[in-house]
Amino acid sequence: MSILVTGGLGFIGSHTVVALIKEGYKVVIADNLSNSKIEVLNALENLTNETIPFYQIDVIDEDAVSRLFENQKFSGVIHFAGYKAVGESVNEPLKYYRNNLLSTITLANICQKKGVKKFIFSSSATVYGSNRVPFDETMQLLPTTNPYGETKAMCERILGDLVQANGDFEVALLRYFNPIGAHPSGGIGEAPNGIPNNLMPFITQVATGKLKELQVFGDDYPTPDGTGVRDYIHVMDLAEGHVAALENSKPGVHIYNLGTGKGTSVLEFIETFERVNKIKIPYKVVPRRVGDVAYSYADVSKAKRELNWTAKRNLEHMCRDAWNFEKLNSKD
Ligand code: UD1
Repeated sequence: MSILVTGGLGFIGSHTVVALIKEGYKVVIADNLSNSKIEVLNALENLTNETIPFYQIDVIDEDAVSRLFENQKFSGVIHFAGYKAVGESVNEPLKYYRNNLLSTITLANICQKKGVKKFIFSSSATVYGSNRVPFDETMQLLPTTNPYGETKAMCERILGDLVQANGDFEVALLRYFNPIGAHPSGGIGEAPNGIPNNLMPFITQVATGKLKELQVFGDDYPTPDGTGVRDYIHVMDLAEGHVAALENSKPGVHIYNLGTGKGTSVLEFIETFERVNKIKIPYKVVPRRVGDVAYSYADVSKAKRELNWTAKRNLEHMCRDAWNFEKLNSKD
């Protein structure tokens, strides 16, 4: 019996594949390569010394997913596949609703037909909207500012309704805070297409000289230094959180924040990156980015209590590993 990892060649998916194999799981990857590269499969096989069955399919393609479930037997599914660019989701909402909702519905439907009960879903802290920090799982969700965030909230509800109707389904909704960093080997990491939207990949590209300077989006937030505060989590900690969720899977729908519980401002982030990697990051402050909140950080007590999981790596590890990956993999 294997674990199906959709989007297993993406940033979080690939690190989770490594964590699963390390714990002795057999893994099958389904990925349509729309935002990932086949080279990641070779990197994963080198890192794990395993041959990993790979299916280049789109999870909204019901026939292809059905065939996959005929070929392989699964004890659980971790569903990462989805579009994730916030700005693009504002410009192309239907693309996001179609892909992110249909993939989840298709996969859950086939799991139901085939009796695969363990289902782990990639959600996001973005579903909290502009609630008060720390965000905890019992909070009433506020509307998010973009279709990407709405797809995450909607998929959570769809899976919740499925559990209402089928009490023996075991669903974990994992709300990620800000995953960054890379596998310490530098074999896999975050490799966004085009100019990065997120802070860490932008900074590593400023560090290589590919981008001239960082723009800090606003220094007039009601935070200690005026810049946005986020809960950055090492992607390997996040990956291990998925293994913990799988091992503690139980009937019902269970929501867990995966973060560190610690907030870091943009200026603190830059200072840490510069200190750890001994590189100057030129930056200038520009107006706020639309849709950003002042604060986002997790109450992590539920994951600790129920999954016996906490993040072990700190921001220094995240900065070191992200830069190591960028140095080894950037070409210009
Ligand atoms: C973003 C998404 C969120 C998604 C998450 C995935 C938005 C509005 N939110 O979160 O929905 O789940 O990525 O990782 O895009 N910053 C700069 N300059 C930059 C880039 C970022 O100052 O060039 C600041 C931001 O204002 C923010 C912090 O850095 O305060 C982190 O930004 P980012 O890495 O983009 O993550 P989020 O916006 O928190």
